[in-house]
Amino acid sequence: MKLAILGSTGEIGTRALKVSESLKECEILAIICNKNWKLFAEQITKYNPRYAIIRDSSSYKKLRNQMHLNGTKLLNNADDILEISDKHKIDTIIGATIGTTFLRLNYELIKLCKRFLIANKESIVLAGRLFMKKAARHGTQIVPLDSEHFGLFSLINAHGTDFSRIYLTASGGPFRTYSRNQLKNVTPKQALNHPIWKMGARITIDSATLMNKAFEVIEASYLFNVPGDKIKVVIHPESIIHAMIEYPNGAFFAQMSLPRMEIPIKQAMINGNRNRNISPKYRMDFHQIKQLTFDEVNGWTPAVKFGIDALKKGGSFPIALNAADEVAVESFLQKKIPFLKITEIIEKILNNHKPVEPKTISDILDVDSNVRKETSELVKHN
Ligand SMILES: NC(=O)c1ccc[n+]([C@@H]2O[C@H](COP(=O)([O-])OP(=O)(O)OC[C@H]3O[C@@H](n4cnc5c(N)ncnc54)[C@H](OP(=O)(O)O)[C@@H]3O)[C@@H](O)[C@H]2O)c1
Repeated sequence: MKLAILGSTGEIGTRALKVSESLKECEILAIICNKNWKLFAEQITKYNPRYAIIRDSSSYKKLRNQMHLNGTKLLNNADDILEISDKHKIDTIIGATIGTTFLRLNYELIKLCKRFLIANKESIVLAGRLFMKKAARHGTQIVPLDSEHFGLFSLINAHGTDFSRIYLTASGGPFRTYSRNQLKNVTPKQALNHPIWKMGARITIDSATLMNKAFEVIEASYLFNVPGDKIKVVIHPESIIHAMIEYPNGAFFAQMSLPRMEIPIKQAMINGNRNRNISPKYRMDFHQIKQLTFDEVNGWTPAVKFGIDALKKGGSFPIALNAADEVAVESFLQKKIPFLKITEIIEKILNNHKPVEPKTISDILDVDSNVRKETSELVKHN
């Protein structure tokens, strides 16, 4: 399996590389990062990819001057991945960059691979319909890596598409038991301390506000062609069940595993082959888990409602939701706004959003850029 990992130095990317060690058939064709040249240098030495692309120019120069590349071709332009994928007839791409920077590139890559394993949820939230259509045209399989969506993907493959409802679970994040009053002065450090998952900064804050679930509702709708009113979110602090699916006759199926991203990544990489072994440390021991509990979504956050409303209103609302959230989260991390302002700012942006019907990736990026500017202005006046 010829594999490229976009975002190899991130939380998902490093795990995907680690998982590849257990797959003899895996050839690391290319890895891409932005600027973490020290970790990238270690990855080049350990995994010996044919190509390594680092986008930031000064990090590229440092890497080029300081390391012996041992046959790896070091590049500075992310677009080179298009030519590489085409030339080497790549099988599998893992899209694990953050934000919208790779939206266009991810979209272009769909036609150049057989399987696109996508963690970059922003691509699906912004352009899910375009992605799914293009994948269908080119016979490319899109496999979500988000644990909930990978769970749904597995459940739907096993049990069929005639379900009446799907459920996404949420750990509830670090502030699950907090009142609105207690949340007034929480710091970025507290919000970054997720009780279950180790993830990049933005998605960790999104888990604390539950905005991550808003995006996951939108993702699920686009990936599985399900309307918002058939998608439910349930708080499940143990994060053992990732997704559930219900059929009209009352049949109910749940997808369970330990909350470790290595599990969906590996299962996606081996295409669900049940005869392949996973390390014993990822196996569930019910004596240790003891109980599974469920609750309603916290009353203090309107996040899930934002996601369902954005789907209902359609057009550019999901794009506006993502752009507003990204700017608000960054502003919170830079201590420009308090925690509760994140969802307040998003709400204001959504209330004033004048929707359009974006038809192309360029249209989408235009909306994204305009809403970012509007949100930055709003942050300045808060
Ligand atoms: N972490 C999880 O458990 C998890 C679960 C589900 C979904 N996701 C989604 O997966 C995606 C990645 O999440 P993460 O937690 O792995 O993020 P992360 O730890 O912040 O890693 C982001 C990766 O993208 C690279 N990158 C960022 N900007 C780039 C640019 N302009 N050009 C090239 N590379 C760039 C980073 O390179 P540098 O290191 O050089 O900056 C890094 O390799 C996100 O969309 C997230 O929502 C993550």
